[in-house]
Amino acid sequence: MKAIVVVISGRGSNLEALIEAAVRERWSIDPGAVIAAVVSNRDDAPGLQMARRAGLATTVVDHRRFATRDAFDRALAVAIDAADPELVVLAGFMRVLTPWFVQRYAGRLINIHPSLLPLFPGLHTHRQALGAGVRVHGATVHYVTEQVDGGGIIAQAVVPVLPGDDEATLAARVLDQEHRLLPRAVRLLLQRRVQWRDGRVLVDASAARELALLDATTLPECRQPVGAEALAYGAAP
Ligand code: GRF
Repeated sequence: MKAIVVVISGRGSNLEALIEAAVRERWSIDPGAVIAAVVSNRDDAPGLQMARRAGLATTVVDHRRFATRDAFDRALAVAIDAADPELVVLAGFMRVLTPWFVQRYAGRLINIHPSLLPLFPGLHTHRQALGAGVRVHGATVHYVTEQVDGGGIIAQAVVPVLPGDDEATLAARVLDQEHRLLPRAVRLLLQRRVQWRDGRVLVDASAARELALLDATTLPECRQPVGAEALAYGAAP
């Protein structure tokens, strides 16, 4: 059985989406995988409670107990390696990782980021998107490299930015798609239909279609007439 380790810092809704998909799609049969452990750097992460309720093994590696980033990353690796993972999924993990850590898991470490990378790396991505006045926004699952939010893109989901959106409404629309996108990417990776080779992301033909999601539930709203008044996108002057 292939082991998946999920690393979180907070709410854990993406973790929950993974847990649900693993049950619904019977990942224990195909791709023969199981979420073997959940690791958090915060002992008060709500996602930890949820994971425990789901019967998963959890470990806390509190970053505040370590003097250096390096010492923390080495302890984090010990916790992760205990499950001998095929894939390590950063799902709302809020720490920057050292080159040592990233290289240790090269090709089997992925992250979900709430923007269409390479646009809007870093924090406050929905605020950045609204400020830039873009018409579409979304989420990206990517391999983790030393460049923050910079590794090879595995999958993306696109949502419209609608008139009247604020950070909260836009974040909710993106999060909905994250919950579809991440389980799909994880399953395809474990099925080896997506692979990392020589610095490139190789995707088999049938997987390619599954890795580009459009928000079919809200895109039609973009076509509805909205009246004659002008709509202001972008940051106020
Ligand atoms: C998500 O928006 C994810 O893209 C980002 O952090 C957030 C985590 O949310 N990296 P949750 O903890 O999975 O609910």
